[in-house]
Amino acid sequence: MQKHIKSFLFLMLFASSNLFANEGALLFGGNCVTCHNETRAISAPSMREVQKQYRAVFGDKKDFVNYLSAFILKPKEENSIMLEKVEKYKLMPLLGYERSVAEEIASYIYDAEF
Ligand code: HEC
Repeated sequence: MQKHIKSFLFLMLFASSNLFANEGALLFGGNCVTCHNETRAISAPSMREVQKQYRAVFGDKKDFVNYLSAFILKPKEENSIMLEKVEKYKLMPLLGYERSVAEEIASYIYDAEF
């Protein structure tokens, strides 16, 4: 009996941590992919390109998440590190997210394999 409870608890823990990890992916898929294809530049730079550029400038995950989420919370030229894309596609529109949501998405982008 004891053993069953333990494996049940383990399963619950496993299922919930997996759910949490997938949240960033869901938020990204639901909010960003309309404009940012993962690998192809269509109406905006591909996310692979954005990730590469942000990783090159902000090697540390914490800085990456801070700067990328700051940009999505308030897209403006002063926050951009891809000014040539602003020129090419026009500035990304303001989408109006909570900071925690923006950070969740930025953290997913840092870790994702596009
Ligand atoms: C309505 C279309 C649209 C949506 C939706 C959109 N973007 Fe963008 N995004 C753009 C365009 C266009 C650019 C290129 C111009 C620029 O950099 O502002 C861009 C640029 C960016 C950049 C590079 C910023 C820079 O210039 O340094 C990041 C990071 C980014 N987007 C993240 C996101 C994330 C994350 C989401 C989802 C939460 C998202 N975008 C949703 C259109 C969009």
